[in-house]
Amino acid sequence: MDDDPGTTLTVDELRLRPWRPGDAEAVLAACQDPEIARWVTIPQPFLPADAEAVIRDSQTMWRTGTGAAFAIVDAATDQLLGAVTRFGPDGHQATFGLWLTPDARGRGVGSRALRLVADWTFATTEAIRLDAFIMVGNEASDRMVLRAGFQREGILRAWDLHHGGVPVDCTVYARIRGDR
Ligand SMILES: CC(C)(COP(=O)(O)OP(=O)(O)OC[C@H]1O[C@@H](n2cnc3c(N)ncnc32)[C@H](O)[C@@H]1OP(=O)(O)O)[C@@H](O)C(=O)NCCC(=O)NCCS
Repeated sequence: MDDDPGTTLTVDELRLRPWRPGDAEAVLAACQDPEIARWVTIPQPFLPADAEAVIRDSQTMWRTGTGAAFAIVDAATDQLLGAVTRFGPDGHQATFGLWLTPDARGRGVGSRALRLVADWTFATTEAIRLDAFIMVGNEASDRMVLRAGFQREGILRAWDLHHGGVPVDCTVYARIRGDR
């Protein structure tokens, strides 16, 4: 078995690479951000063991083919900018999740990273439907997925259980193979 599975992708100044154990400290720091906790269901409080689990789980996904989990880093400095994860494909469908560090926001990092992984997924798998589920009210994320070529499909009530098991409504977006 390959000891270091995974793929590296690049666009502009961004490198998307598999997580490494040495990223745990940067993940721990990033995941203290209240905006990430507000919109992404991550453990609260987010502790060092949780950061290590992010990396361990990502390596398992690559090894088992159950997904593709990338650290988004600055190609020149390797500074952590965020995370983009593809869960699946499971059959013809795969789902995306994404967060950025606060200083990486507002310059197209999320939309370019998401578009890159979506294009790569269509090129390298049989997936037909890529989707993302965004809590209602997360307007930055709504704009990001539209910029990445996804289309809004509707609202799913009580789709997710947020911290403490609180049901939250999500907007579903999808990009279908062959969409312009
Ligand atoms: C959601 C989140 C990932 C979006 O990040 P973002 O930087 O706002 O989104 P993008 O990467 O699409 O950047 C778009 C912004 O950069 C600008 N931009 C600059 N260059 C750009 C380029 N080449 N391409 C696209 N946008 C560009 C756009 O004008 C846009 O600004 P605007 O949203 O004020 O109009 C980020 O806000 C975040 O991590 N939030 C907390 C966690 C979270 O909500 N995760 C998502 C859960 S579903």
